[in-house]
Order: sequence, then C-alpha cells, then structure tokens
Amino acid sequence: MKVIPIRSALSTPLSVRADAADGPLVDQRGRSVRDLRISVTDRCNFRCVYCMPRAVFDKDYPFLPRAQLLSFEEIFRVAKIFAARGVRKIRITGGEPLLRKDIERLIAMLATLDDVELTLTTNGVLLPKLARTLRDAGLHRVTVSLDALDDATFRRMNDADYPVERVLEGIAAAQSAGFEAIKVNMVVKRGSNDQDIVPMARHFRNSGHILRFIEFMDVGASNGWKMDEVLPSRDVIARIHEQFPLEAIDPNYEGEVAERWRYVDGAGEVGVISSVTQAFCSTCTRIRLSTEGKLYTCLFAQHGHDLRDLLRGDADDARIDAAIAGVWTQRDDRYSEIRTAATAGRPKIEMSYIGG
Ligand code: GTP
Ligand code: 5AD
Ligand code: SF4
Ligand code: SF4
Repeated sequence: MKVIPIRSALSTPLSVRADAADGPLVDQRGRSVRDLRISVTDRCNFRCVYCMPRAVFDKDYPFLPRAQLLSFEEIFRVAKIFAARGVRKIRITGGEPLLRKDIERLIAMLATLDDVELTLTTNGVLLPKLARTLRDAGLHRVTVSLDALDDATFRRMNDADYPVERVLEGIAAAQSAGFEAIKVNMVVKRGSNDQDIVPMARHFRNSGHILRFIEFMDVGASNGWKMDEVLPSRDVIARIHEQFPLEAIDPNYEGEVAERWRYVDGAGEVGVISSVTQAFCSTCTRIRLSTEGKLYTCLFAQHGHDLRDLLRGDADDARIDAAIAGVWTQRDDRYSEIRTAATAGRPKIEMSYIGG
C-alpha cells in the first residue's frame, strides 16, 4: 500500500487574533491549554506496524529536509509563549526524539522554563548512550515504548529487528541515571501482541515502573486500523486481574489520559489508555507542535496551523502569542468521541510526524 504524505497539503492559514489578551486560553469546549507536545523529528529507527508501516515508510518516503525543521531556538520561543499561557507540561516526541542531533541542548533550554514539567517519549534504544546526559540537561521524566516481552513478538512489532533486550537496557539506563516513576507504554494490537499483556504485567510488577496499555488507534492514514484489532482496556484489566488482583485508583490530576489501577498486593500500578472505547476528549488540554512548526489541536487533525513563517518573519512575540490564541480559542476537536468506521478512513496526520 502506498500512501501519499498529506502534511504540506493540509496546512491552513492562521487566523491571527489581534485582540488576544494575556491569561489562560480556553477553547470552544471550555478546555484550557496545559500540555504542549513537541515533535523534534519525523524519523525513527523503528518501523512499528501500528505507526510507521514499512511498506509506506520505505527508502523513498519523503521525510522532512533539515531546513524545514524548527531550530531549537524557534522551538524554545514557541514553548516560552505557551508557558506564559498556562502550559505546565512539555513532552518531547518524534518519530524518535533521541535521533535529533544535540537534543540535550533543547532539553537544557526548555528546562529553564519555570513550573513546567519536562518529559520525553522514546523507544529506548538510545537511552544507554543518552540517559545521563538528558538527566543532567534537566529532563524530569521519561516514557519508554515497549510492545512485548517475547523477543520474536517484539521484533515483529518494531519491524526493524531490534531485540527486546535493547529496550530493557534502555529502561535500566534511565533508572541508573536517576529517572523515577518511569512509564512504559505498550500499544495492544489484538492478535499481534495481546498474549504479552500478562507477561509484561508480571515483568514490571515491583519494578517501580508504571506500565500502561494503549488501545490501538486509527491515527494517521497508513496503519490499516480495524476495530477488530482493538482490544478494549476493560479486557486488558480483566486478563491481568485474573492473575494479579487489581483495584481502581484515583487519577493524579484532572484530565489524566491513563486510567490507573493498583495491584492489591502492593506491587505497584498499571494504567490503561482507552481512546477508542472510552474517549477522553472532554478534558483534553493538549496541543501539538510538529517538527516543521505547525500547530495541531488534535492527534487526529486533518489540518495544521503554520507558525514557522511567523517565526522566520519579523513577527514579535505578541504576534505569535496572538496566533496561538487564535488557534486555541477556535478549537472544537473531539475526534475520539465521534469516531466511526468512516472517520477512521479519513486522511489524517501520521503519528510519527505529529508526535505520540
Ligand atoms: P504522563 O504525564 O506521563 O502520564 O503523560 P500522558 O498521560 O500524556 O501519557 P503519554 O504522553 O505517554 O501518552 C501515552 C499515549 O496516550 C500516547 O502515546 C498516545 O498513544 C495516547 N494519547 C496521549 N494523548 C492523547 C490524546 O490527546 N488523544 C488520544 N487519542 N490519545 C492520546
Ligand atoms: N495507536 C496507539 N498508540 C500509538 N502510538 C503510535 N501509534 C499508535 C497507534 N496507532 C504511540 C505509542 C507509542 C508512542 C510513541 O506513540 O504510545 O508508544
Ligand atoms: Fe518509532 Fe515510536 Fe512510531 Fe514506533 S511508535 S515507529 S518507535 S515513533
Ligand atoms: Fe484530544 Fe483529539 Fe485525543 Fe480527543 S482525540 S483526546 S480532542 S487529541
């Protein structure tokens, strides 16, 4: 299957609100902007079947040329404006963010923002090399993706022949570097890796790490998503509960994406992220900045709002702030609440481009 990249075709002109005032921004559904997710590269060394299927992301795939990527200075400028508007968490994503050269320099810049939690999502293979540097640069937390414990299953999921051991070494390196409450994200695809749910739970019990199970989503337009391949989170919990009894616990904060469960025997907690069977759009406070400087108000957006021209023109911070305010205050997204088989087939931005 060949899918034409849609990113450039789908950028809409910005409506710059001249009257944007200071203070928290609220969208059309009463949600304020709290989390900024920044994609720093659209490339990855994995080819996860649910994210960058090899048949599409092959040697001819037109990844972004370097000149089109936002520089660290440009990213920092945007982040600072968002922080002044109430963003309290920044997540660095990709593609694989650790492939971006000198990423620690960006981390060090973002770490200077007061009252902002700085986190990063990675596939883990570069953590043995970089964990300490990232920690020293001021990164607060890491989340590592890991879809199976069985080596053959994991290799099939990442489709790039990475052994599971490499990721486990990455998690260990993050722990040695001093990261706490490391989160491990497993995307569950029924019939592909669901047999690894219980082994993963067993492995991470008592580790201090927080394992989260994510329902396979119809993000992008290339992963061949089918409802049949979604294993509802309630089934995930039931399977674990049968072996290791669980009880539900309260969210850490309002609008937390993961629903939390703890082991009754005190072995720690797990989480489930159920975008398909239990949408959480009503409390969605997230905005995404793509590698080339477009803002997306939803993971399933079909259009981005370009900031790069403003950043590279003579716009001052007030004008960029007004542009951001215009985008957020117009926001009306609630894709997961209105998902159908028909919407799943729409052209949408790829996760590797927009960030997880
Ligand atoms: P923590 O503060 O570490 O708990 O962050 P988080 O709960 O936002 O989790 P994380 O950033 O690790 O997100 C985990 C996964 O949840 C992502 O990789 C996505 O698959 C999914 N996810 C995160 N945000 C959204 C969202 O806004 N919409 C949808 N549909 N899925 C999301
Ligand atoms: N469904 C669910 N999660 C996905 N991710 C990427 N593609 C999908 C998808 N189709 C998420 C995973 C991964 C992160 C980088 O992006 O959580 O760990
Ligand atoms: Fe790469 Fe993460 Fe996508 Fe896998 S899910 S292909 S590791 S960006
Ligand atoms: Fe937010 Fe869109 Fe995800 Fe709903 S589908 S939670 S609006 S990013």
